[in-house]
Amino acid sequence: RDGIVVLVSGRGSNLQALIDAVRDGRLPAGIRAVISNEPGAPALARARTAGIAVHVISHRDFPAREQFDRALIQRIDACQPRLVVLAGFMRILGPNFIDHYAGRLINIHPSLLPAFPGLDTHARALQSGAKFHGASVHFVTHEVDGGPVIVQAAVPVLPGDTPDILAERVLAEEHRIYPLAIGWFLAGRLAVAGGRVRLDGEERPEQGLT
Ligand code: GAR
Repeated sequence: RDGIVVLVSGRGSNLQALIDAVRDGRLPAGIRAVISNEPGAPALARARTAGIAVHVISHRDFPAREQFDRALIQRIDACQPRLVVLAGFMRILGPNFIDHYAGRLINIHPSLLPAFPGLDTHARALQSGAKFHGASVHFVTHEVDGGPVIVQAAVPVLPGDTPDILAERVLAEEHRIYPLAIGWFLAGRLAVAGGRVRLDGEERPEQGLT
């Protein structure tokens, strides 16, 4: 089966969604390894429970990003994955890492990109008065949260929402669209042309909403 490696830093609910999707046949993929930069990440326990190989590569053990990235590359390449999946991975990756996996490195971000790149997206969406918020899966390029979007899902912002309540509504969509996007990639259905993603040769609609 097509191998993927998943990079995590924390809770791992997106990882769990991928594990579940593989398990019930919605995602024909093999999770070759889960790598965390945080030794205490709850995501690691989820991987172990699922019988997946886990590795901790703590960024704190390296003098600089460059060396950390190089250690990550070595560990990932030993697994020979077709796709590298960032799932709540909270370290910025350097240009050498990104170039090494060009076209086969994807991320999920909790906003409707290009709105709200970076952190605290739910609070910022609320503050902005946006009527809709959501999540995006995108290819990773040198611009943080700026790569070509593969798929997005929108949710309404409702009266009384707090960042946590809104985050939960978005998260349910994240868990739905990440397996979808990975399945498309592994089935060879995605291509990037002119900085935009095509699915089965068709340009994704503006914002790629699904
Ligand atoms: C998710 O909401 C993901 O979109 C976000 O962190 C959360 C991780 O949750 N990622 C980023 O903000 C990337 N910069 P999880 O660990 O339960 O999957």
